[in-house]
Amino acid sequence: MMNRLELIQKLPKAELHLHIEGSFEPELMFEIAKRNKVNIRFKSIDEIKEAYNFHNLQSFLDIYYEGAGVLLHEKDFYDLTYAYLLKCKEDNVVHAEIFFDPQTHTDRGVSFETVISGIKKATIKAHEEWGMTAHLIMYFLRHLSEEEAFKTLKMSEPFKKDIIAVGLDSSEVGHPPSKFKKVFDEAMKMGYLTVAHAGEEGPPEYVWEALDLLKVKRVDHGVRSIEDEKLLKRLIDEEMPLTVCPLSNIKLCVFEKMEDHNLKKLLQQNVKVMINSDDPAYFGGYANQNYIATAEALDLSNAEIIQLAKNSFDASFMTDELKQSWIKACEAFNE
Ligand code: ADE
Ligand code: ZN
Repeated sequence: MMNRLELIQKLPKAELHLHIEGSFEPELMFEIAKRNKVNIRFKSIDEIKEAYNFHNLQSFLDIYYEGAGVLLHEKDFYDLTYAYLLKCKEDNVVHAEIFFDPQTHTDRGVSFETVISGIKKATIKAHEEWGMTAHLIMYFLRHLSEEEAFKTLKMSEPFKKDIIAVGLDSSEVGHPPSKFKKVFDEAMKMGYLTVAHAGEEGPPEYVWEALDLLKVKRVDHGVRSIEDEKLLKRLIDEEMPLTVCPLSNIKLCVFEKMEDHNLKKLLQQNVKVMINSDDPAYFGGYANQNYIATAEALDLSNAEIIQLAKNSFDASFMTDELKQSWIKACEAFNE
């Protein structure tokens, strides 16, 4: 039998929950800050890493938005994205659906085009170099108004063909999905698919709203759905994917320790969960490190690890043909 570490390394995987701004490693942050002549309040890489001690989502978001503030030019977004794609290559992540937060940049005077062009060019390069595929998902910041989200939606129009879906992220509690129903309706009319963070820190009611009002195709996190039996049944019946991010959940104190994480329970009840890294530069690891930490703490079997990888393709927005071929490649690891 193949050992767990080898299996995790060798399995092809898709990553469906990755904020590109959350893959900003301190080393690259310093380099870009220096070339852009932007001041950052940290004096060293060690000092930055020390600041990465979070007690909830907001304490993380404050630092995450601050870090993103050094990104100014297309090349900055290109370098950021290409560095993440190289990590994918190392981890055998063959497909990524990359989230970006336009408002974090446009509110500082960086154009929508600068952001998306840099990200897009890096994905094209990765495709040319090692055949990796990617989609882009544009996220609205839920702590801002729906009107602001509408402005961002409008800005996205010339780049519509490069964006597969819209989503909702940032401070969850107090900003329910219902706040964004109208803008999601408009986005769907424009042809975008929809996703949303829900049930990370927020209650199961937010997951209901994401399903009923925003018509999401996947729920980001969604781990608090387990508190509501009816909701759980619906997720199972509808085969609704949850893009779970284990290391993130521990770092942001959604669960006290990895042994307490509910991923295995969800998987065993047939909820379509998979493993993702969310903001790997801040939470201590990329895809494989998330798989390893979870598999060890929850004692996942090889069959369960393979199921997670299959779910990652099944829940992706790639074509059915490509999906089936990757699922088959995963199944080849079953003994
Ligand atoms: N933005 C980046 N990471 C996030 C997370 N885990 N939850 C909500 N918004 C985010
Ligand atoms: Zn997230």
